[in-house]
Amino acid sequence: MSRIVLETRDIRRDYVVGGGLFRKARTVHAVKGVSLKLEKGKTLAIVGESGCGKSTLARMITMIDAPTGGELFIDGEKVDIARQKLTPELRRKVQIVFQNPYGSLNPRQKIGDVLMEPLIINAKLPASERRDRAMEMLKKVGLGPEHFNRYPHMFSGGQRQRIAIARALMLNPQLLVLDEPVSALDLSVQAQVLNLLADLQDEFGLTYVFISHDLSVVRYIADEVMVMYFGEAVEYGTRDEVFSSPKHDYTKTLFAATPRADVESIRRRLARRRAA
Ligand SMILES: Nc1ncnc2c1ncn2[C@@H]1O[C@H](COP(=O)(O)OP(=O)(O)OP(=O)(O)O)[C@@H](O)[C@H]1O
Ligand SMILES: [Mg+2]
Repeated sequence: MSRIVLETRDIRRDYVVGGGLFRKARTVHAVKGVSLKLEKGKTLAIVGESGCGKSTLARMITMIDAPTGGELFIDGEKVDIARQKLTPELRRKVQIVFQNPYGSLNPRQKIGDVLMEPLIINAKLPASERRDRAMEMLKKVGLGPEHFNRYPHMFSGGQRQRIAIARALMLNPQLLVLDEPVSALDLSVQAQVLNLLADLQDEFGLTYVFISHDLSVVRYIADEVMVMYFGEAVEYGTRDEVFSSPKHDYTKTLFAATPRADVESIRRRLARRRAA
């Protein structure tokens, strides 16, 4: 039987906002109860318009932001939500990559150190071994030893995203949550990073939650698709199910708004690059 790496049951997140001397606080129901199950090695794409709760869901899955209700299971283990964070063992299994890696890379830290840092949890690992592993990971993401001693500002956007991916992979995670990982990149660089993600998924058997507002990208990378709308999953199924027979009116509008030609041309381009 295939292994379920991620499961959420009716997971929700409320935020209390505002509130002051003259204003009443109000509650934003950012995610209103989402249930999903994701098998090892698969990619679930989450799409939906700005503010529908995609990043909130991503932060809950990684427990950067604890859910206000529902249940979360990672690699079959129930997460103790009341603890407000993951245990170190689970922390290792789930990593997150954001849209703008520049924001999450320390400008004063050399790339080699960025990559070696997660390995500190294993105090017994000799320094030379840490270095070797970082070098190896640089190679896996298409960078080289010459990049080891460089600082984040010396890289292009696409390269920085490769670094963020490399850092996320240093502890051999099961699950990668990618929150708009290619949205800030040029189209051709997007394709390169998507191909890299596909290769890494094959090599390491990684499971992805891939957040995007770009349907052409989703169509290329997803096994399953969830469409969110005002904090709810209004559509959830295999890619082909969702793309060929969208049920919800919002999804139909969303799909209609993406010119078909665009979708086809980027798919062809990506397929060519992958084959090359
Ligand atoms: N820390 C917070 N405090 C208060 N409200 C928040 C907080 N984080 C998110 N929200 C609200 O929750 C809702 C969902 O936000 P979220 O960032 O998850 O949307 P999103 O789908 O990722 O949007 P985008 O596509 O713009 O990234 C929004 O209404 C947002 O304003
Ligand atoms: Mg977001």
